[in-house]
Amino acid sequence: MTEQARVLVTTPLPSGSETALLRAGHEIVRAGGCTHADLIRLARDADAVVCTLTDHIDEQVLEAGSGRLQVVANIAVGYNNIDLGTASRLGIIVCNTPRVLDEATADTAFLLLLAAARRASEAEQDLRNGRWKGWRLTDYLGQEFADRTLGLVGYGRIGTAMARRAAGFGLVVRHHTRRDTGQPGWTGDLDEMVGEADFVSLHLPLTPETHHLFDEARFRRMKRSAVFVNTARGAIVDERALAEALHSGTIFAAGLDVYEHEPRIDPLLLTAPRTVLLPHIGSAAEQTRRQMAELACQAAADVLAGRRPANVVNGSPAI
Ligand code: GLV
Repeated sequence: MTEQARVLVTTPLPSGSETALLRAGHEIVRAGGCTHADLIRLARDADAVVCTLTDHIDEQVLEAGSGRLQVVANIAVGYNNIDLGTASRLGIIVCNTPRVLDEATADTAFLLLLAAARRASEAEQDLRNGRWKGWRLTDYLGQEFADRTLGLVGYGRIGTAMARRAAGFGLVVRHHTRRDTGQPGWTGDLDEMVGEADFVSLHLPLTPETHHLFDEARFRRMKRSAVFVNTARGAIVDERALAEALHSGTIFAAGLDVYEHEPRIDPLLLTAPRTVLLPHIGSAAEQTRRQMAELACQAAADVLAGRRPANVVNGSPAI
């Protein structure tokens, strides 16, 4: 019989997704919209935290929970918002929610690729604002897909889901990862791929090594007709450099779902031409978000019951 524990949940959850915690009889402390200071205070009395990518689970929060806190379950596949080193040092298990969001996220990336390549946002804005004066042969010309090359940076589950979609549209797919995947289309030379691709889409985590991987120099290597898509993490890109590349015509278009300083967006990006901007909705599909919440709650319940949960991302702290 599991002892009752206190679980801090930092966001409203889809109904039914916390069943694993409720069945075990745990107390749920709901702290939707809590500040960082609230998090530090509430972590002191929590055995588990179920949080989202907007919560900064840094050293202060983890130290506050130290001694009692056993697990942090992030409702996201990315976990750059959590200080893994400190969590491991304090023996706190950190889990994420991979797999269940692969298809929804690849759908969003492909949506952005199509929308940016065909200038959908700009054309729709003209229509809504009464600027469309009727069909003209030379208006809103974008980039076609057939026989063009898509370069994927990162080739995990979401990257490969993107590749499957691209094949259906007649795109030639290449991918870059540090280690050879052994799959057709692999290259270890990012600059070479970026220089030859018609479209580039990011599918890799934010780490100290990938921070600003796309900077001014890298955008200059891209074709002037290139379309750039980011559904991974904003800070992989130097946002100001991207905005300038769009304004100067160094690249053709961009489709973005993530930003360097969410929810703040560089004003230069907001006025950039041929740019489609979404508010971090990559995994925002009903079933997907429910499954993500369920996975995180299940992970917390597992740790509290002394079981090893799925999807531990910080090595193997003792359990
Ligand atoms: C969303 O951005 C996630 O990491 O799940």
